[in-house]
Amino acid sequence: MPSYVVELQQRFTSATGVDPELRPATKPQFGHFQTNVALRLAKTEGKPPREVAQRIADTVDVADLCEPLEIAGPGFINIRLTEQTLASGVTDLLADPRLQVPLAEPGETVVIDYSSPNVAKQMHVGHLRTTIIGDSFNRVLTALGHRVIPQNHIGDWGTQFGTLVEQILEEGLDVGGLTLPEADALYKRASAHFKTDEEFATRARKRVVALQSGDARTREIWEQLITISLVGFNEAYARLGVKLTDADLAGESSYNDDLATVVEECESSGVAVIDDGALCVFTEGFSAPLIIRKSDGGYGYATTDLAAIRRRVNELDADRIIYVTDARQGGHFAQVFAAAKQVGYLPDTVNAEHVGYGMVLGTDGKPFKTRDGTAASLESLLDAAEEKAARPIALAAIKYADLSNGLGKDYVFDLDRMVQTTGNTGPYLQYAHARICQVLRKAEADGIAGGDKVLELPHPTEQTLALLLSRYGDTVVEVGDTLQPHRLCTYLYDVAVAVARFYDDCPVLRSDGTLRESRLALITAARDVLAAGLDLLGIEAPDRM
Ligand code: ARG
Repeated sequence: MPSYVVELQQRFTSATGVDPELRPATKPQFGHFQTNVALRLAKTEGKPPREVAQRIADTVDVADLCEPLEIAGPGFINIRLTEQTLASGVTDLLADPRLQVPLAEPGETVVIDYSSPNVAKQMHVGHLRTTIIGDSFNRVLTALGHRVIPQNHIGDWGTQFGTLVEQILEEGLDVGGLTLPEADALYKRASAHFKTDEEFATRARKRVVALQSGDARTREIWEQLITISLVGFNEAYARLGVKLTDADLAGESSYNDDLATVVEECESSGVAVIDDGALCVFTEGFSAPLIIRKSDGGYGYATTDLAAIRRRVNELDADRIIYVTDARQGGHFAQVFAAAKQVGYLPDTVNAEHVGYGMVLGTDGKPFKTRDGTAASLESLLDAAEEKAARPIALAAIKYADLSNGLGKDYVFDLDRMVQTTGNTGPYLQYAHARICQVLRKAEADGIAGGDKVLELPHPTEQTLALLLSRYGDTVVEVGDTLQPHRLCTYLYDVAVAVARFYDDCPVLRSDGTLRESRLALITAARDVLAAGLDLLGIEAPDRM
C-alpha cells in the first residue's frame, strides 16, 4: 500500500475511531479514493449520514495530503490527493528496489504442485498451462516473501510401466537412445499391443509385479525411461524459461515407501473401511468413496496424493499447498482434501487449494489440435508461435493468453491475435516497456538528465498514471491471495494504456527543466513496474523491439 494511503487511513481512524476502509474511486470525478465510514457511523449514532460525513470532513486533518474533502450522494466522502502526494507516491516507488511490494510477515511455506507431466509421454497443451500458471504463482509468492517449494509430481509409476518395459524387451530396444517423442510412440505401440494380444497382456501384468518387487533388469529399464523423459521435460522448461529444476522433482514413485503406512494409518484411525473388497474412505458430498487400496491390493493415484499431502505437511512444513491441474481434476482434489482432513493429514492451519484451468481451444472452438489433427504437443505449440514471432515475443503471446483470462475459462489459441503488439496482449505490454526504454535512451543520448524524483504532475493524465503506478504493490498482494494472475495482467495493461495516453498529452523530451525531470522519472517508474510485473508473469521485457 502506498505510504500516503497508510497515512490517510491512520488520520481517519484517529478522527473517527473506526477503519475508513478506503476504496479506489470508481470514477475519476469522485477523486482518487472513497470511504463509506460516515454511512456506517450514522447507523450507530442514529444521525443523518450526510451530517456525520460533514462532521468528519471538518475534523479529520488531511489538508497536507489532499484537496478539501467532498461529500457525495448519501454520505460518501470523496478524497482527491494533491499533486504533491501523488508525486511522492512515485518517488517512493523509485527509491525502493522492491517497488513497494510488501514482504509477508511471517512468510509462509507454500508448496506448489505444478507441471507434473507423465514419463514416456510428450507434454501436451494442458501441461503447458499448468507449467506457465505454476511458474507465475511461484514468482508472485516468492516476491511477496514466501518460501516456495515447487513439487513436480511427475507420473513415473503405475501399471503402464509393466506394459512399456515388456514392449521394450520384446522389440529389443535400447531405451537410453530414445528421445521423448520416440518414447511417446513406443507408449502408443505398447498400449495397442496390450489391448489386442492377451498373451502379451499377461506378461505385462507379470512385469508390473517384477517392477514393484524391485527386479533389477526391470528397474533399470524403468529408470532409463525416466531419464530420457526428464531430458525432454527439461528441454521444454528451458524453452519456456520457467524456474523448475530437477531439485523440484517429487514423482509419484517417490511415495512408494509411504503408501503402506498411509493405508495403515487410514485403517487404524477407522477412517477407511473395506467396501466390496476395496479399502475406501467415504467423504461427505461425494457419490463414490475414495479408494485407497483396490481389491487386488494395488494403490492408485488417490493413495499417492494422500501420501503427498502427508509429506508436504509433516516434512516440508507447508502452510499452504496449491495444486495446478486442469479443471476436470477438481473433484479428485476436493475428495482427497476431505479424506486427508479426516485422517488428520491436513490440519485446519494448512490451506490446500486446487486451481483448475480451462482448455486450450482452436479457432474452431474445439480442443486445440495440430495441423495433422493429433492432440497438440507442447513443442508443436511453441513451434507454431515461433513461426509468427521471435522467441521472447512468442512466449509473451502464449503466457499472457494463458494468464490474462480467468484461469478456469477455456481460451482460444488464436496466434494471429496473440502476437499482435496492439490490444490486450503480452507483446503489447513488451512494446510499451521497450518504447519507454527508447525514450530514456534518447534522453541519455541527448545529454538530458533524468530525475529520480517526481516533483510535479500538473496534467491530469500524468496524475492518473502516477496513481496507477502506486497500486502495483497492492495488485501483487491481491494476486498472491486470490491466485488470479489476470488481475496483474489487467493492471499492467491499464499501465500500458495510461503510458500511451501520457505520451499523447504530456511531452517529455520537448518539455524543460523540473517538469522534464519529473516526467522522465515518472516513465522510469512505469518502466520498472512493467518490467517487474511482466517478470512475475514469467514474461521477458526486452529493451528494444
Ligand atoms: N500427472 C498428472 C497429469 O498429467 C498431474 C498430477 C497432478 N498432481 C497431483 N498431485 N496429482 O494429469
